[in-house]
Amino acid sequence: MEVIKPTLFDFHGVSMSNYFVKNWDEVQNFKARPDDILIATYPKTGTTWVCYMLDLLYFGQTCPERQTSTPLDDRVPFLEIAKPNLPTGKELADRLPTTPRLIKTHLPLQFVPKSFWEQNVRIVNVLRNAKDTAVSYYHFCRMNKGMPDPGDWSTFLQNFMEGKVVYGSWHDHVNGWWEKKETYPKIHPMFYEDLIQDTGREIDKLCSFLGLSRSDEEKKRVMEAVQFDNMKKNEMANPKTPAMDFKISPFMRKGKVGDWKNHFSVAQSEQFDEDYKKKMTDVTLQFRTEI
Ligand code: A3P
Repeated sequence: MEVIKPTLFDFHGVSMSNYFVKNWDEVQNFKARPDDILIATYPKTGTTWVCYMLDLLYFGQTCPERQTSTPLDDRVPFLEIAKPNLPTGKELADRLPTTPRLIKTHLPLQFVPKSFWEQNVRIVNVLRNAKDTAVSYYHFCRMNKGMPDPGDWSTFLQNFMEGKVVYGSWHDHVNGWWEKKETYPKIHPMFYEDLIQDTGREIDKLCSFLGLSRSDEEKKRVMEAVQFDNMKKNEMANPKTPAMDFKISPFMRKGKVGDWKNHFSVAQSEQFDEDYKKKMTDVTLQFRTEI
C-alpha cells in the first residue's frame, strides 16, 4: 500500500500536521487535575527520557509490573495525538488509573488546554540545544511515516530555521515556555545537556520540584534504568508502531550532545548562528551545544 506522508499546514500561526490537531476541540476541553504532571517539550528534546524517569520515580516501586506490562506511551499518554484506528492521547489520559497522571505534550504554550493553568498543574519542560534538536528531528522525520517528508538535510535545516516543521519554530516554542516561568512558577526546566552531564543531580532537582523523597538506592535504580543503553534495550520504553522504520534510523539514535557537528557544514552553522542570535535574545536562556 502506498504511504501518503502528512503535509504541513498553518494552524493558528504554527506549522502543524493532521495527527496533532485532528482532535483539537477534545484536547482543548481536556480536564486536567491539580495533581497531574505535564511533560511539555519541543519534539526530540529528550521527552521520552524524562517521561520514563518520572514514571519510575512515581511507580517504579509501587507498581513494578507496569514496567513489563504496559508500554511507556500508554503509561504517559501523548495528549494531542490522534491516529486512525487507535485510541487518542486524550482518551488514554482520561483512562489513566494512576495518581498522579503523567501526561506529555509537544504543544506550544499558547495551545495548552486552559484547565492545566486553572488547576495549577506542575509542568516539567525539557529543553535541548537547537542544533542537536534539528539533527534528531531530521532523522525522526526520515524514519517516521507519520511525519512530513523532511527532504534532504539542507532542506530540512532551512525549514527548521523558518519554523516549517511540525510544532513550528523551535525558537518560538522554547521562548514561549521560558517566558511563562516568570508568571507561572510551577514550571521546572530540565536541559538535555545537564541530564547527559549529571543525570543524578537532575533527578535530585526533579524530586525536589515534585516534593518527592526517594532513597539513594531508589534514585540509583532509576538512574541505571534510564541510561541510554538500558533504555535502548528496553522494548517497553521504545515506541512500537509500524509507522516507524528503525532500519532507517532507530528511535534511540545516539543520545549525545554535539552530534550536530557531524551534520552541519561550517556555512550552515554560521547561518544558523546568525539567525539564532536574532531570535533568541533573552540572556537568561543559554544552551550548550557541547559539554
Ligand atoms: P538523538 O536522536 O539525538 O539520539 P524525544 O523523546 O523528545 O523524541 O527525544 C529523542 C531524543 O532523545 C533522541 O536523540 C534520543 O536518542 C534521545 N534520548 C532518549 N533517551 C535517552 C537517554 N536515556 N539518554 C540520552 N538520550 C536519550
